[in-house]
Amino acid sequence: MATIQTVGVLGCGLMGRGIAQICAAAGYRTFVLEAEQKFLDKGLGEVDKQLAKAVEKGKLTAEQKAATMGNLKGTLFADDLKDCDLIIEAIIENRETKREMYAKLDAIVKKEAIFATNTSSLTVADLMTATGRIDKFIGLHFFNPVPVMKLVEIVKTITTSDETVAAAQEFAKKTGKTSVLAKDKTGFIVNRLLVPYILDAIVALEQGFGSIKDIDEAMKLGCGYPMGPLTLLDFVGLDTTLYIADIMFDEFKEKRFAPPSLLKRMVMAGYLGRKAGKGFYDYSNPEAPIANDYLVK
Ligand code: 3HC
Repeated sequence: MATIQTVGVLGCGLMGRGIAQICAAAGYRTFVLEAEQKFLDKGLGEVDKQLAKAVEKGKLTAEQKAATMGNLKGTLFADDLKDCDLIIEAIIENRETKREMYAKLDAIVKKEAIFATNTSSLTVADLMTATGRIDKFIGLHFFNPVPVMKLVEIVKTITTSDETVAAAQEFAKKTGKTSVLAKDKTGFIVNRLLVPYILDAIVALEQGFGSIKDIDEAMKLGCGYPMGPLTLLDFVGLDTTLYIADIMFDEFKEKRFAPPSLLKRMVMAGYLGRKAGKGFYDYSNPEAPIANDYLVK
């Protein structure tokens, strides 16, 4: 089985920086590729901040933080990734952009390397055909926030080799994640079940089953979920959710994946969730979000 020592992460956004952080913390030499220096500065700055918080809380030593940061190298040059053993792509969720990126990297990175995608909704097989390594291509679907969430879905296409799956499982274990094996079916396991649930919470809100706060409180305290569904929607991003729902509806043509009209209208109006400062809640004071009850009045 191929031994992974060096990892290349494509993209230093929310998911990319989280993935880079856990790779570096696990001892992998980790390169993070971005298009502009300002994205690298922002993403790696966030990693540094998260690790500093952990040191403050006594969960990490200053030496461990320094070792993790020392393993991380931001770059604007794809050539720097040529000797990586594993490439994990976490760029914008757009089929054409991802395929272009894979074709470019396929020509640069050594032939034995495994290519992985963190896509949450695109078909892994469709991305892998942009490369010449269809036996060494796999899905590695992480969850936000990556350093905290314990799961990674390993997605095997019809051509992924058993050796690649075994290497991905070993990698997941080394980064402290529990892996599950999912088929290359749109949404994999988690979004197949999560997306209908969060969409249905919007429908329940539209139908007047309860207020924003009460729907969230009900599922949080009644079912023991860490966040209510509308808070989770704000956390994931309403635009991201709409994008995933559209792809899943297109694939399965099932009503359970159809985006509710309120979701579409909120995205149109810029209510994208926490990152935009407003979604189902107003985050003017992030410590004490206020429910935007007027959305359904
Ligand atoms: N990055 C890194 N660490 C973070 C973090 C972040 N963004 N947010 C919180 N944490 C850490 C905190 O530092 C804290 O660490 P500690 O226990 O070592 O001190 C720990 O997480 C708990 O944080 P808090 O006490 O501040 O708050 P909570 O207990 O409410 O936990 C949460 C926050 C982990 C985000 C929790 O609310 C949760 O699990 N929410 C559900 C998240 C979820 O469902 N994610 C999956 C989304 S779906 C997805 O990603 C798939 C995609 O395809 C759509």
